[in-house]
Amino acid sequence: MYFLGRPVALFSGMDLVTRVNNMEFTMTGAGTTEYDVGTNNNNNNNNKTKETTKRPKGPKVFGSNNLMFEKNKARHLFLRQLIGSAMTPKALVDALPTIQQTAKDVIEQQVLKPMMAQSAATIKMEDVCVDYTMDIVRNQLLGLQLAKEEANDFREKLKDWMKGLFSIAAILRIPFLVTRSKPYKAKVFIESKLEEKIDSLLRDGPDSSTLSNMVFAIDDDKQQLSREDVVQNALLLVSAGAETSAGTLTLAMLLLGVHPDKFRKLVQEQQVVVENHGTQLTPSILDKECPYLDAVVKETLRIGPITGGFPRRVKDTFVIDGVQIPKDWSVFTSYRLTHQLDPVTALPNDAHMDVYQGFQPDRWIDPATTPSDFVPFGAGPRFCLGYHLSMMEMKVFLAIFARSVTSFHLQNYSAETKRPIKWNPSTIIPRPTDGVELHSIVEMAAESSTTCRPTTAS
Ligand code: HEM
Repeated sequence: MYFLGRPVALFSGMDLVTRVNNMEFTMTGAGTTEYDVGTNNNNNNNNKTKETTKRPKGPKVFGSNNLMFEKNKARHLFLRQLIGSAMTPKALVDALPTIQQTAKDVIEQQVLKPMMAQSAATIKMEDVCVDYTMDIVRNQLLGLQLAKEEANDFREKLKDWMKGLFSIAAILRIPFLVTRSKPYKAKVFIESKLEEKIDSLLRDGPDSSTLSNMVFAIDDDKQQLSREDVVQNALLLVSAGAETSAGTLTLAMLLLGVHPDKFRKLVQEQQVVVENHGTQLTPSILDKECPYLDAVVKETLRIGPITGGFPRRVKDTFVIDGVQIPKDWSVFTSYRLTHQLDPVTALPNDAHMDVYQGFQPDRWIDPATTPSDFVPFGAGPRFCLGYHLSMMEMKVFLAIFARSVTSFHLQNYSAETKRPIKWNPSTIIPRPTDGVELHSIVEMAAESSTTCRPTTAS
């Protein structure tokens, strides 16, 4: 195929995708048109703490001086190690209570309370999921303790910034347009909050936030991230993590809404968990006691993954599986196509990717039906750094939702009508244009909340 006038070789299949991605830093390089890897030979520079990658100058809505755009192998590894150390399963043990409380607060405030107050309430689950991920950014990633009004303001600023992803200002990069744009102003505000927080961490010592881990992380050579590294990569985590997790959760709500039998199974699993272990979730409960929850999340990621990462520029002609890929072409590894062509799940007419026909979480329970080609978090040296955090975040939200609401109906889509889904064309993870509107005919669970009276509304 062609991308911005350049020939691109498209790859799919887990094995091939992994092999091609693994060629980065040797045969190919990360980059869109803005980075010509072929003429930039800094990949062999071993100075891991200093920036050597050439960056476009001027004000930007989304910066590129972070690990996602890092082309120097040693520095990329260094950044991954120190930033990633804040998101290992071990580091996340302390994060779970904050994440669970955030899910509980958002679901109570934005789903249960409006349902109780107004019998005909319609709730847009996309908004709920976006607010949840924004609150995780504030509470866990950045560890900002803000009063209610300030917290709401911060959430809106995060949303303003994220809207810049597809804005003219971000794409054209005309300084005059950029500095006047709402997303850029929001970014400056978020950066100022980050700077304040780093000052307080340096003054008062570490806390359990991801940002704190980044500030104090040290590698085997006793090297630390610079202040600029911390700020720019914290911004990366916000942008890489919020849209992806919120989009996947929104899609999960659509899938569970049109498959009430599957939602019922999720509810039953959580009822057993609460009976046996009480309400507090732990990493071990999520891993060992919630196989159906895990299956729902994986099945959602299978049906609606990111299309792929950035196209990589080919530095030297190479041959793979007997096919020659010429120098200066680009390669694109498609995660979406990999799922579409997975030999275990593939059905005629791509029915296995369809919202109505394809959603079968049970396929993940039996090894014989478990998909063999599954790469929603990428593969190779740029495998998603937020994998553990995002899985935890998504599972906790769905678990708390299934403990709070035992059945719900969608406004616009159902298994009976099988109305074709209208997809929003400008999102990274597929989301329907209506934002998954939840209709008010909802049964709330008895222990759904301490502040909401349990009820059955119809
Ligand atoms: C459903 C949620 C998520 C999905 C589906 C997802 C998917 C991905 C994929 C496919 C890549 C690789 C892109 C490539 O091939 O170039 C990636 C990279 C990355 N992700 Fe995620 N992601 C999710 C959540 C998160 C979260 C919550 C964070 C952090 C808070 C995060 C941080 C990153 C970072 C930093 C990279 C770049 C790694 C590098 O370049 O070395 N992601 N993600």
